[in-house]
Amino acid sequence: MQVNTIQTHSIETNTTFETKTITAETPRHRAPFANFVDESPGANEFRRLYSKLKNLYGAADMKNFLVTSSMMSEGKSTASALLACTIARYRNTKTILVDCDLRRPRVHQLFGIPKEEGVADVLTGTRKLDTCFKRTSIENLRLLTAGSIVDNPTELFNSPRLRDLFSEIKFYFDTVIVDSPPVIPVTDTLILSPEMDGALMVVKAGETHKEVVKRAVDMMRNAGFNILGVIINNQKAVLPYYYDQSYYGYKYYVRDEKKKKQ
Ligand SMILES: Nc1ncnc2c1ncn2[C@@H]1O[C@H](COP(=O)(O)OP(=O)(O)O)[C@@H](O)[C@H]1O
Ligand SMILES: [Mg+2]
Repeated sequence: MQVNTIQTHSIETNTTFETKTITAETPRHRAPFANFVDESPGANEFRRLYSKLKNLYGAADMKNFLVTSSMMSEGKSTASALLACTIARYRNTKTILVDCDLRRPRVHQLFGIPKEEGVADVLTGTRKLDTCFKRTSIENLRLLTAGSIVDNPTELFNSPRLRDLFSEIKFYFDTVIVDSPPVIPVTDTLILSPEMDGALMVVKAGETHKEVVKRAVDMMRNAGFNILGVIINNQKAVLPYYYDQSYYGYKYYVRDEKKKKQ
C-alpha cells in the first residue's frame, strides 16, 4: 500500500492554522471505507486535524464542515470520508457525511453502497430525508449519498429546499461533513455557503497552480465561506497522469459526467 503525505496548513502563513505534516495511508481498493480501520495513519492524522480545528475555531459550536478544492481529483472525497469516519469514531457523536457533488458523486463508491435515495431525491421532493440515511460500519456515522442523476444540480441547490435540507440534517446530527464539487469549474459549492459553518480546502501539492488556488479562495471568500484551513494532498507518487494539465478543466469535467451517466 502506498503512503502519501497530506499536510494541513493555512493559506496565509500569518494565520493561526499552523503548518503540520501528516501522513495518510489511503486504501486503493474499490470501497476503501466499507470497513474503516481506525488505527490507520490516515485516521490518526485526521483526528489531529479535527482536534486542531476544534481548538482553533471552537469547532464544538460548529456543525457543518464543507470539504472542497479548486479543481477535480485533488482528494476531496477521500479527505471528507476520512474526516467523517474519524470524527464519528473518536468524538462519538452523531456524524453524517453528505455527498453534495451531484456531478461526480463518490461517497457511495468509497463506502460500497448504492448512490440512489440521497441529496438529489430530497431536493426534488421525491424522497423524505429521514428515509435516505444509510448506515456504515461505524456506529455513529451515517451517509447521505448524492441520489439519482439530475441534469440541473446548480438549479437544485438554488432552491429553497436546500436550506430545509440542512436545517433538518442539523436536527438529526451533531457533525455534518459535506463533500462537494470543485470551486472553479462549477458554482454548486459556492451556493452551499450559507448552510456551512466552515470550509476546508484540499490542495494537490506540486500540481495545482497557486494562482488557481488563490482564485478559488477568493471565490469562496466572496461567497461568504469561512475557510478554516487547507489539506495538502500529495498524490503525484500514485497518480502521475495528473501531471497532464489537460486532464483538468470544465470541459473534461462536464463531458466525463455525461459520458458516465452512472
Ligand atoms: N492520499 C491519497 N493517496 C492515494 N490516493 C489518493 C489519495 N487521495 C486521493 N487519492 C485518489 O485520487 C483519486 C481522486 O481522489 P478523490 O478523493 O475522489 O478526489 P476529488 O473528490 O477531489 O475528485 C481517487 O482515485 C483517490 O483514491
Ligand atoms: Mg469527489
